[in-house]
Amino acid sequence: MQPNVVLYRNIPDDLLALLEQHCRVTFFDGINADNRAAFTQALAEAEGVIGVGVKFTDELLAAAPRLKAASTISVGYDDFDVAALTARHIALMHTPGVLTETTADTIFTLVLCIARRITELADNVKKGQWQASIGPDWYGSNVHGKTIGILGMGRIGYAVARRARLGFNMNVLYYNRSAKPEAELTLHARRCALDELLAEADFVCNVLPLTPETRHIINHETLAKMKPSAFLVNGGRGASVDEAALIDALKSGVIKGAGLDVFEKEPLPVTSELLSLPNVIALPHIGSATHETRYEMSKLAVLNLLAALKGDVSKNCVNPTAFR
Ligand code: DGY
Repeated sequence: MQPNVVLYRNIPDDLLALLEQHCRVTFFDGINADNRAAFTQALAEAEGVIGVGVKFTDELLAAAPRLKAASTISVGYDDFDVAALTARHIALMHTPGVLTETTADTIFTLVLCIARRITELADNVKKGQWQASIGPDWYGSNVHGKTIGILGMGRIGYAVARRARLGFNMNVLYYNRSAKPEAELTLHARRCALDELLAEADFVCNVLPLTPETRHIINHETLAKMKPSAFLVNGGRGASVDEAALIDALKSGVIKGAGLDVFEKEPLPVTSELLSLPNVIALPHIGSATHETRYEMSKLAVLNLLAALKGDVSKNCVNPTAFR
């Protein structure tokens, strides 16, 4: 008999057809207050789940006693209580690799736009405020030749470092649990302590995964160690940054500006003070959001789920030892 699968995010038609060739699919176009109860009910029969944007707590997993595999359409898996999944012998699959370059493009876009004040200046032009050549009040800061400090030198960190070094002749510092010889050899990246990175970098760029250790790694204390001329760019997870501390730092000139793709609460509440600060660029979590890359992520997530449901967790599994 085909396994029951709950799909909780829209995926392209051909991928849905592929999933339906092998599974009986119950589809939810995102989960909200209206369909939450039906979703939980569908979980009771599910052997597989696939989607993104739902928190899978131990409590929710208790509603899914037959679950064998969860496949997230993302590389980050902080929505999942991995210990709880592992204890229940549920494999957690994710999509590393396919989104690396696109996400690095987004992060480097933020570096360029916040440094050169692109969104502010483009808005001025649209508002008809380009009456004369701009003066120093509107000048930006150079990117090329500066120092970028990357928090997290995994695949995405490396792809950002490559853009910085080879494209913009930047000096690359990185903070990471382990040394990354390839980055050191090919990009002259230098691993250093967090304090040193914060003190030296003109751009502090966070791409760390969210864990108890990295939650609020950027806070009052660490922001105070940055240069007043420096920018923070966050393309990792919102909760790595204490947003209240960041707002204080941006308002009081502790740092110069911030380019943010991720937030503590998403969607970012319209009441957030971040939105009223001119030295902030806020994007709606679009790191991987291109047609091509989102397709590849959905495809990989479908293939991951089908493999896991057949007992193959040799690739893209967060907790392969959980499976039995
Ligand atoms: C990821 O894949 O983790 C992106 O941030 C989208 O959630």
